Amino acid sequence: MIPGFTSTGSKHPAALFGAGGDAPERMVRAEGCAVWDMKGRRYIDTTMALGAVSLGYGHPVVSAAVRKAVDDGTVGPLPPVLEAEVADRLGATNPIMESVRFFKTGAEAVAAAVRIARVEAGRDRIVTSGYQGWLDTFSDAVGVPAAVRGGRQSVPFNDVAALETAMGHGEPTAAIVVEPVVDGPPHEAWIAALNDARARTGALIVLDEIKTGLRLGPAGARRRYGFDADLVVMGKALGNGFPIAAVGGAEALMRAVTRTWISSTLATEFVSLAAADAVLRVYDREDVSGHIAAVGQRFSDGLVEIAAAHSSVIRSVKGIAEFCYLECATESVSTRLGAGCAARGVIFKRNAYNFMSLAHSEETVDDVLQVVGGVVAALAKEEAE
Ligand SMILES: Cc1ncc(COP(=O)(O)O)c(C=O)c1O
Repeated sequence: MIPGFTSTGSKHPAALFGAGGDAPERMVRAEGCAVWDMKGRRYIDTTMALGAVSLGYGHPVVSAAVRKAVDDGTVGPLPPVLEAEVADRLGATNPIMESVRFFKTGAEAVAAAVRIARVEAGRDRIVTSGYQGWLDTFSDAVGVPAAVRGGRQSVPFNDVAALETAMGHGEPTAAIVVEPVVDGPPHEAWIAALNDARARTGALIVLDEIKTGLRLGPAGARRRYGFDADLVVMGKALGNGFPIAAVGGAEALMRAVTRTWISSTLATEFVSLAAADAVLRVYDREDVSGHIAAVGQRFSDGLVEIAAAHSSVIRSVKGIAEFCYLECATESVSTRLGAGCAARGVIFKRNAYNFMSLAHSEETVDDVLQVVGGVVAALAKEEAE
């Protein structure tokens, strides 16, 4: 009934476990970092809804705020007070977000950031690096018109030479849209080249912090690594599972939004704004990113040990402490790793990021590593036979 099985590609069984077997396909409930599938089986999860959840599933503060928003009627003819309050909170959390617009999805928000940059710069072309979502603005997929694709040039992450070539032809560029972390941290030379291209050409830097926002600290990857960002895009952790994303920047720059048309019927419903408000309150009160960094370090150190002990089947550990994965030697090893972990009660993403959260304790991490290590050891043995 659903072509392609699901509307979120990365949740397809093939993406998680490879084809076949008795791996879980659909779920019915989640709590903390545990999920229950349609057969009632319980799993520890390290995907955290593709990083959309950083406080844990069903966090009580978020759930209570959302219940109140539902009781308050959800939406109406006027923009809610909460919209301005959450914008204020975001600005206090991440000072670059002086002025903010809200959206429902990450891709929508990054597309809006590009529109704002184009209006401000009076230029069309964009240079991108990393993943920005499925929309035409960022995609080379079948069905995207060639004319749209032609307005964008993509450069590999951390590839300074490619960036310099892309920016060096004197083609006026509105924005360089970058993901701050792709399979590993940004190199200093990469950040310097981006910041230099911005200063030299007037292209704005749109920093896509959909995965890193909040998770890497209140001011995200921008602060940690030193990007001279003009616009920052947040999503995922901002709503802890509720659909909200935001674009923010200096007030004068964000005012460009009023010279074009960016608007969506449900951008200002109460529920997701209440979720974001609750998330920001929890981050204010607790050192969530500190916890995630600490358990993430334990998790990625454990994965590094597993990879080193079984280099015949695991090539490397990709990512950073807060989100990482095992790069398997072959597709077959990768699918058997995902399926093997699921058979032992752990949903461990086999070829893309596993995200730590406030709900992952050191003990949980150790339990997960025990399972992953056991499965990898068994795979290494099978491959040797
Ligand atoms: C860095 C980045 N940008 C944009 C997106 C798109 O967000 P969404 O899937 O909410 O549209 C994602 C989603 O994974 C992402 O990781």
